[in-house]
Amino acid sequence: MPTQIKKIGVLTGGGDAPGLNAVIRAVVKSGCNAGVEVIGIEDSFDGLLEFNRMRVLTPKDVTGILRRGGTILGTVNTGDPFVRPVTTSDGGQQKYSDRCVEMFHRSGLGGLVVIGGDGTLAIAHRFAKMGIPIMGVPKTIDNDIAGTINCFGFDTAVAFATDAIDRLHTTAEAHRRIMVVEVMGRYAGWIALYAGIGGGADVILMPEVPYDIEVVAQQIRDREAWGAHFSIVVVAEGARPKNGDISLIQSAGVGRAERLGGAGHRVAAALAELTGKETRTVVLGHLQRGGSPTSFDRVLATRFGGKAVELLLAGEQDKMVASHPPNIVAVPLSEIVGKTRLVPADFDVVKTARAIGLSFGD
Ligand code: F6P
Repeated sequence: MPTQIKKIGVLTGGGDAPGLNAVIRAVVKSGCNAGVEVIGIEDSFDGLLEFNRMRVLTPKDVTGILRRGGTILGTVNTGDPFVRPVTTSDGGQQKYSDRCVEMFHRSGLGGLVVIGGDGTLAIAHRFAKMGIPIMGVPKTIDNDIAGTINCFGFDTAVAFATDAIDRLHTTAEAHRRIMVVEVMGRYAGWIALYAGIGGGADVILMPEVPYDIEVVAQQIRDREAWGAHFSIVVVAEGARPKNGDISLIQSAGVGRAERLGGAGHRVAAALAELTGKETRTVVLGHLQRGGSPTSFDRVLATRFGGKAVELLLAGEQDKMVASHPPNIVAVPLSEIVGKTRLVPADFDVVKTARAIGLSFGD
């Protein structure tokens, strides 16, 4: 049912991903063209705490941001708004979440577009249950949000990682080395899989398929035997050996996810020992989150932003826009919160990779 919404808010939460600004731009332009005022809320839900962290966004404010990485609104990926109290500008103490809901209504907002990953969308779902009409937009380079086939940011991360692997090929070949490339993705292997295939890797290690390092070493020895004296091994940060643990830099804390890291170095050290070959490791890290979004991500982000506004104005809420090619649809947040979309073992891309001789180390 169409609503009488006159003002909507937009915020970005969680780790940044290329395309955030493209969504903001689409929300502002489509909202304004539909006669709705759009308010940009700074630093995720923190911006709802005080009026001075909210600002009107007009089409002029978003001109030129389509191609920019990062987010003009700022973002936060730590802290749980449901556990901490806040001191407000009028000197009072309030529960963070109550303050957000109160300020949402005091601002005259009728809807809120929340652009974020699984953590931010879970928080959004809780706010929706407290009475804020919310439309989520799935963002992550990891591509692991349930309910959508694509998240914006993923294509850009894969394009960057593929280019990096291309560059590593030439130096690997020149020095007859093993090059181990660690990519992001948390507990999912989407980036490793797509960049590995796109870049022509010889081995892809991903969280969904625990590896046996001896199998990986044998793949490299086999290549050596037929005359390929270098190898490219792509390791997802969440990859782990059979019967072994994930590699961590820091364990999880209150409102803070665990930090993954070290998987690439671990694989490289073992391969150097098992094969006797010179081995180097490159960790692509946050480079995968930076830079200008690809045209695919710009289009997807623009479609998500436009659809989110359309759905809010049509009275939909507590949902997330999702890519179900060729359409953008709405899925209830309750169906996706707490889930992670992993690479299925029988995924045709995995089967094809195996068919062309790529090893997953299993
Ligand atoms: O979820 C996106 C992501 O880039 C992961 O791939 C990675 O594990 C994590 O965020 C890194 O987070 P931070 O920016 O807090 O180091």
